Amino acid sequence: PLIVASLSTIIFLATKIYTKAFPKFDEINKIVEENVRGIRTVKSYTREEFEDKKFKDKAAEIKQLMTKGEIYGGLTNPVLVCTINISLTLFISLGSLAFIDGIIDIGNFQALISYGINTLTAVMMVAFIAVNIAMSFASGKRVCEVLNEVPTLTNPQNGCETIENGSIEFDDVHFSFRDKRGDKLADEECLKGINLKIASGEVIGIIGGTGSAKSTLVNMIPRFYDPQIGTVKVAGRDVRSYDLVPLRDSVSMVLQKNVLFSGTLRDNMRWGDPQATDAQIDRALAIACASEFVDQLPGRLDYIVDQGGANFSGGQKQRLCIARAILKSPKVLIFDDSTSAVDTKTDKKIRNSLRESIPGVTKIIVAQRISSVADADRVIVMDDGRVVDFDTPSHLFDSSRIFREVCDLQGVKKEELR
Ligand SMILES: Nc1ncnc2c1ncn2[C@@H]1O[C@H](COP(=O)(O)OP(=O)(O)O)[C@@H](O)[C@H]1O
Ligand SMILES: [Mg+2]
Repeated sequence: PLIVASLSTIIFLATKIYTKAFPKFDEINKIVEENVRGIRTVKSYTREEFEDKKFKDKAAEIKQLMTKGEIYGGLTNPVLVCTINISLTLFISLGSLAFIDGIIDIGNFQALISYGINTLTAVMMVAFIAVNIAMSFASGKRVCEVLNEVPTLTNPQNGCETIENGSIEFDDVHFSFRDKRGDKLADEECLKGINLKIASGEVIGIIGGTGSAKSTLVNMIPRFYDPQIGTVKVAGRDVRSYDLVPLRDSVSMVLQKNVLFSGTLRDNMRWGDPQATDAQIDRALAIACASEFVDQLPGRLDYIVDQGGANFSGGQKQRLCIARAILKSPKVLIFDDSTSAVDTKTDKKIRNSLRESIPGVTKIIVAQRISSVADADRVIVMDDGRVVDFDTPSHLFDSSRIFREVCDLQGVKKEELR
């Protein structure tokens, strides 16, 4: 009982400490990753010292916890040896007393002692691994946390494989993000009852302040999020009824900050279509107005892209990503602020060539600049998670207060609008 009591206490304390220590490793990894990734930002704000201190503080915290854990672990040894020796003394003295009193004979006395020693050695073995068990238990708990994480999006069985066309419909869509721990919905809805009908092949602009949920709205179409209430439909069918792979192939998204991978330009373009020929790649590059600078590169498609596309400018990267998205031959093309880094003239050139080269594809253009949506068929005006206006640009100029304000601010006249 003595051994069990002392060991349980030690295991309990050690587990508690290790459970606290392991999440700290996550935190320190996060600090390192953020700093390596954002090294330029860290340097330009001369935050090196501060970030260095942040790392050292975390490391010190871990050191303290782990030392404590090891001290408890180290305690097992003396505690055990002590308890075992006390037990042995008890065995022998009580045994001798019983033998003198004639309660047991010499054979039983001998047996008692050897059983005692055997049992105690076995207990000692268990005790030595006990602390390791405590450590494994703490790690195991964290592994299970990751394994038990249920994805909120599930791919339907026998999902529909073909997306007939690029029409889109939002039917009373409500959406809230989950809070940081993922078990509760945020108090305020992000999308508050969206109703939209977009015909296949239409060019749709989306305008609205930052945080008005423009990105969230377009993210619902390739099913990066599922609404809590309401349905999003593509080609007249609920997006949840499609298999995710064909759905995301047909709904192609270009982000403001896209990622290029290290490798040749050709490899990067083939993310859109692994079988794409050079001719197809060239056509996509031409539509995205990227040929003009790709033609200057030594080796053209064999040109090596550095990690993260570091050897291209922001605007060039955006055009390459547009070309990559076009190669998927999508039914719906979504540009989430994806021409923010190209000049207005090139922006217009890209829109014109998209309109001419792939007229059947529904295009959704999220933008800050009115000029980016001036020639759209219709424009959605978002405010605080709601669609407040949805009409042609020139109608909006007269009817939408927000749209008019943005036009005035950016010096756009009604004649420039479609
Ligand atoms: N992953 C997320 N988790 C929690 N809240 C988010 C997340 N992404 C965006 N939000 C919140 O949703 C709102 C809309 O964001 P977003 O759709 O990115 O706006 P926009 O693209 O119009 O700038 C913001 O208030 C933002 O804080
Ligand atoms: Mg956004």
